[in-house]
Amino acid sequence: MNEKEIVLSGIRATGNLHLGNYFGALSKFVRMQDDYDSMFFIADLHALTTNPSPEELHVNVKNIVSEYLAAGVDPEKATIFVQSDVPEVSELYLLLNMHVGIGELMRTASFKDKARKALGIKSDSEDIEHEIIGSETNKRVNAGLLTYPTLMAVDILIQKAHKVPVGKDQEQHLELTRRFARRFNSFYGVDLFPEPTNFDFGGQPVKVPGLDGSGKMGKSEGNCIYLIDEEKVLRKKVMRATTDEGPKEPNSPVSLPVQNLFTLMELTSAPEVVQQFKDAYADCSIRYGDLKKQLAEDILKITLPIRQRILDIRNDDAYIGKVLRQGAERARERAAATLKEAREVMGIRKFY
Ligand code: ADP
Ligand code: TRP
Repeated sequence: MNEKEIVLSGIRATGNLHLGNYFGALSKFVRMQDDYDSMFFIADLHALTTNPSPEELHVNVKNIVSEYLAAGVDPEKATIFVQSDVPEVSELYLLLNMHVGIGELMRTASFKDKARKALGIKSDSEDIEHEIIGSETNKRVNAGLLTYPTLMAVDILIQKAHKVPVGKDQEQHLELTRRFARRFNSFYGVDLFPEPTNFDFGGQPVKVPGLDGSGKMGKSEGNCIYLIDEEKVLRKKVMRATTDEGPKEPNSPVSLPVQNLFTLMELTSAPEVVQQFKDAYADCSIRYGDLKKQLAEDILKITLPIRQRILDIRNDDAYIGKVLRQGAERARERAAATLKEAREVMGIRKFY
């Protein structure tokens, strides 16, 4: 068989893409599209779990499609589509939920995180299950948030994807996807869904750190460098990144904020440049200002050309429309075939 393996990944339509999305997901999409049967989508239904305004959602979908295209995802090689353009996903989501436990969903780290946010709970130690059931305020944790992993599993399983390039933070969701696939297959004695795995060129999935000394760059963390950032803004962000007082003795251990800058540098700068700054750290001659200047320069080399293309593509509604129509058609074809099989397997069969 020389059929290509199916690769699928998506990003929620919740804002502009940042370097975490770029290195964790998007740059891998671009590198994979030649060798795999690739499908990349914009998860607008997942974005609804945090109740955006309709205008905001619509603009975000458009921005992310533009960013995919600007970063080099090629609609002639990969299927690019919007999640809600494939209604079969919503139906399989309902069906698969019949085999998903509320308990396993409630134990998911991303759910606990978001539930805490929805209820305005700061501390990690609160018994979140108790809080959710007992909450009599007008704050609520919507059911879509709970079943988020089912929807993500369906995105993957309905296309029978083998590989799912995502960042480290999504590994738990992938683990659940495999579990749901296995459970469904074994309950009905079929071999309908393949079990998908994460994919990374370097072996280990990357985690891009934040500029504020925290472990992760993320939209909700407010510590991001966006692909769309203007040159001046980007330089300023990098120059303001958290550091420490500098090494006092040769070969001192590296603090987290400084390690973060090295990690960013490893992703964006040439290996000899990184080594030069590491040596300077080791012999205490390092100047963080120089490191930041170099880092900003090397990040800009990646982001500025993408930024220009984003601005061009965003203005081309006809092109965006054409790409998404073609993508929706291709994505629906495979989804409809899988849904038909799943319905049949579950006993939903027609009498007429
Ligand atoms: P955010 O965390 O900013 O809300 P998303 O959850 O929408 O971003 O993530 C979309 C994709 O980008 C996922 O594959 C996710 O793993 C990846 N990603 C997001 N932030 C990072 C990061 N800091 N490092 C590596 N990958 C990331
Ligand atoms: N949950 C993913 C995120 O937050 C987005 C996503 C939804 C996804 N469905 C997917 C990723 C299917 C890969 C495959 O980033």
